[in-house]
Amino acid sequence: MTDFRTLEATDPEIYEAITAERTRQSNQIELIASENFVSRAVLEATGNVMTNKYAEGYPGRRYYGGCEFVDVAERLAIDRAKTLFGAEHVNVQPHSGTQANMAVYFAMLEPGDTLLGMDLASGGHLTHGHPLSYSGRDFDVVTYGVDRKTEMIDFDQVHQLAREHQPKLIVCGASAYSRIIDFEQFGKIAKDVGALLMADIAHIAGLVVAGLHPSPVPHCDFVTTTTHKTLRGPRGGLILCRQDFAKAIDRAVFPGIQGGPLMHIIAAKAVAFNEAAGEEFKSYQAQLVANASAMSRRLASQGMRMVSGGTDNHLFMIDVAASAGLTGKVAEKALEAAGITVNKNTIPYDQNPPLVASGIRIGTPAVTSRGMKETEMELIADLIEQVLKGPEDEQVRSEVRRQVETLCAHFPLYDALW
Ligand SMILES: Cc1ncc(COP(=O)(O)O)c(C=O)c1O
Repeated sequence: MTDFRTLEATDPEIYEAITAERTRQSNQIELIASENFVSRAVLEATGNVMTNKYAEGYPGRRYYGGCEFVDVAERLAIDRAKTLFGAEHVNVQPHSGTQANMAVYFAMLEPGDTLLGMDLASGGHLTHGHPLSYSGRDFDVVTYGVDRKTEMIDFDQVHQLAREHQPKLIVCGASAYSRIIDFEQFGKIAKDVGALLMADIAHIAGLVVAGLHPSPVPHCDFVTTTTHKTLRGPRGGLILCRQDFAKAIDRAVFPGIQGGPLMHIIAAKAVAFNEAAGEEFKSYQAQLVANASAMSRRLASQGMRMVSGGTDNHLFMIDVAASAGLTGKVAEKALEAAGITVNKNTIPYDQNPPLVASGIRIGTPAVTSRGMKETEMELIADLIEQVLKGPEDEQVRSEVRRQVETLCAHFPLYDALW
């Protein structure tokens, strides 16, 4: 018999952990560039009875009965995503960004094929060919990086590597790159060498939707993204492609690499796509870019070295080794103890391994979702500077923590929901 008592009554340990996580999110400054705070509507849709439904297949072509209502949700998600990105075909079923990328590789590549992607240290993602990921295991991976001086993508190098290695697929897009990506240029290179082109816009999808960054859709065969970063939806993945690849992509997702789709998450994706089509979403994206720019400028004026000199998007990287004689690991820990959450990150040509790193990555999607603007960004920059100057100083930490709590109290999060 199904138990209809509340979570609090049936599983106090998990209830407590969730409550503590909500408090943590409310009382800390969240600067992890890949995180965000979803709306109440997305949160509601994420926990709904569609979690009970098996729906292998696609709308109108399912392997199970009783799919008429989940079909409505998936069709809405597909149609909304198509309109949002101007894409010919959309698959909303990937459980994550990692699986969206896997589906494209599974659809288009054979083991041993050559893949050209951006290396991790320069800002690329694990799934762009890193040896520890599936993407680095089965393919012959060649990587491009950034120019040592400008720390921006060096298109001459990309072109030269593409000519030399004749990849079947070129992957562009990044996890830790603060500049506009010239998808048109990638498109020309791919065309020149006869390669397929995939853009992974997991980080900048919201900026693309808002028209603040160029869209990769006209220049690429495939575009993948997560739905939970700047796009502000539930955790998940999404694939856009040209109509000629529709069948191959759908087959690669199911039955290729996944079973039943997460229909509750697909419903929540549809809600997020609807929100992303509104005017408010556009001003939110403009504000998060303005916020990243304001915070990085303030930190630079205090003597911090920004990788590539600054930012055009929602994130930037501080070279904490050059700026404060710290490792990313130490900086991350010190900031966390002061109530500010960031992540350590390797920087181009880093001498330290990824778990130590010489940089930290800072992003503004989450603080902007709370309603913070440039004034708050400058205050946060000042707090970061104080912590990085005295990473072991308990007095500095507790004073910063106090200011963080005061700031957070002015920008409540989910408080009306509990
Ligand atoms: C560019 C890029 N692609 C793919 C992913 C993977 O997404 P997920 O964590 O949902 O698998 C990330 C995640 O950070 C990313 O930054």
